[in-house]
Amino acid sequence: MAERVVLAVRDLAVQFGSEQGVVRALDGVSFDLHAGRTLGIVGESGCGKSVTARSILRLVERPGIISGGRLLLDPGTPEEADLARLDPDSRQMRAVRGGRIGLIFQEPMTALSVHYTVGNQLIEAVRQHSTASAAEARARAVELLREVGIPRPETRIDAYPFELSGGLRQRVGIAMALAGDPDIVIADEPTTALDVTTQAQILALLKRLQAQKGISLMLITHDMGVIAQMADEVAVMYLGRVVEFAPVRQLFAAPRHPYTRALLRAVPSILAAPRQRLSTIGGAVPHPGMRPAGCPFHPRCGERLGAVCMERIPAPVPTGRPGASCFREEEAA
Ligand SMILES: Nc1ncnc2c1ncn2[C@@H]1O[C@H](COP(=O)(O)OP(=O)(O)OP(=O)(O)O)[C@@H](O)[C@H]1O
Ligand SMILES: [Mg+2]
Repeated sequence: MAERVVLAVRDLAVQFGSEQGVVRALDGVSFDLHAGRTLGIVGESGCGKSVTARSILRLVERPGIISGGRLLLDPGTPEEADLARLDPDSRQMRAVRGGRIGLIFQEPMTALSVHYTVGNQLIEAVRQHSTASAAEARARAVELLREVGIPRPETRIDAYPFELSGGLRQRVGIAMALAGDPDIVIADEPTTALDVTTQAQILALLKRLQAQKGISLMLITHDMGVIAQMADEVAVMYLGRVVEFAPVRQLFAAPRHPYTRALLRAVPSILAAPRQRLSTIGGAVPHPGMRPAGCPFHPRCGERLGAVCMERIPAPVPTGRPGASCFREEEAA
């Protein structure tokens, strides 16, 4: 894990205000993204994965605000910038968005308009981050379509998004994310909307592009199978916090947090006896506005120690080292 840290998220807190009160969607999220590696972010629905991604790109909209923490791009270098301090509409932030950090959405139509051809939109995205002429930008757009594995890109460039299949549309979504030549890519559930075969193709494409371009990838998913296939390191999130961080092999071989263990038990295994009941985690993620006292996971935890878990909040995972935010961990230490 010696690679340079390209993005350091520290104690990130995001809240949404409403008439009912303040909802702490992120409650102290910390992790490092290393150059050229894949950080998997995993957790059930509502745990704050997308809010984390949108915060980094400063796309959280009112009533959401970053209420604390730092988002350090190139930490420890003369170019270090804290994205949390920048105006979301500033020139610097607009250059970061797309130019340094590309975003791939679950639903590619989030990044695409139905009214323009694929080419128009790609050319526009290329020109936003370069001084290319119209002809150069078009050539670059064709090249991008080729890079993401779109057959006959010279023709397809004039298609409208609705003329493409879901898989091809997601490839265009990836091309859009790469148009500004970012070295960091955040993919938020990029394959969740796709069938299994297409999902495998898109994951293979992401892997190939990452290797070719040396991209640092932050891959958000709720699917432990995707994590196993793609991630180098993994941050497990629960209710707006990172509850475990570990290299991927270690996470699967010796998960430390009861929540991670429960997530892994819920993965259907090819080794499991046929018709064995698929384990699910009891209960649901509470709404962040109804955060339980003590350890946020304690009401659903099958490995609860007792009063300590119900009354106190376990220490956060130390950044840069494998660990879990759990009193069992503290007891073992
Ligand atoms: N626009 C918003 N207004 C109010 N609360 C919000 C808003 N967006 C997110 N939240 C809160 O933040 C929490 C985390 O949401 P987020 O979208 O990050 O979850 P997620 O982990 O990406 O889930 P999923 O797997 O369903 O995509 C939500 O439970 C919700 O309470
Ligand atoms: Mg999400």
